[in-house]
Amino acid sequence: MDDRSGSPEAARLNPGVAHNARVWNYWLGGKDHYPADREVGERVFGMFPNIVHVARADRAFLGRVVGHLAGEAGVRQFLDVGTGLPTVDNTHEVAQRLAPESRIVYVDNDPLVLVHARALLTSTPEGATDYVDADARDTATILREAARTLDLTRPVAVMLLGILNFVLDTEEALSIVRGLMDAVPSGSYLALTHPTLELGGEANVEAMRFWNEHATPPITARTGEEITHFFDGLDLLDPGLVSCSLWRPDLLESPVQISQYGALARKP
Ligand SMILES: C[S@@+](CC[C@H](N)C(=O)[O-])C[C@H]1O[C@@H](n2cnc3c(N)ncnc32)[C@H](O)[C@@H]1O
Repeated sequence: MDDRSGSPEAARLNPGVAHNARVWNYWLGGKDHYPADREVGERVFGMFPNIVHVARADRAFLGRVVGHLAGEAGVRQFLDVGTGLPTVDNTHEVAQRLAPESRIVYVDNDPLVLVHARALLTSTPEGATDYVDADARDTATILREAARTLDLTRPVAVMLLGILNFVLDTEEALSIVRGLMDAVPSGSYLALTHPTLELGGEANVEAMRFWNEHATPPITARTGEEITHFFDGLDLLDPGLVSCSLWRPDLLESPVQISQYGALARKP
């Protein structure tokens, strides 16, 4: 893997400790991870084999949600916070396939995602992509930097997929959502996924405890009721908050329930 040894990013990489973006990439079958990431990834898989289905179902949800937004909903601006390492069908690829003029801003705080960000910046000529190296908690910086690419007076799809689970304090997680959604106009959307110990996720207790002892950043699960509050003041689209694999599945799929909630809501 190209870790740009000697660069400022390389100093932040800390390859000896498993990092979420890299382990997520490992579970997705990617190639951007270190031995420490693979070891933790395998241990978690041993305790909670469904983690691989969770990672893949979460990405498939991203594809269907962005497809709906760029398609029938007519959204042309996306703010994808907690992007992850580039993989197949990143947000800009799905959106620009349907609407080449789509503009996408990616945000992550992982140094390896920053190193690989150029793979996220391959926009169509009609559209635009940008990358912001920031913590999700720093909504002021995110909005200021995003405004270089997005017109925040026009609808934006805010995407928080698999990231609020790394903000352990629920009030703080709620304030991130409020900070972002208050800054975008009526007609904007919130897409969100979040792990839970419900929906068959009970076996994840042990795996999450192991993660918190051996990897970074620390993670938490939330109940469906807690996750519903992230959508307060917004109109949930059908089918509401469900296992993300069951959110408008493709006709040819036979999806099974997984312990990752997902939903899409519109700001009235
Ligand atoms: C589980 S991955 C999800 C990636 C992608 N959204 C997806 O659904 O496939 C979570 C991502 O959130 C990023 N992340 C975690 N905590 C963060 C924070 N406080 N600020 C910004 N990004 C964060 C991680 O680096 C990682 O890339």
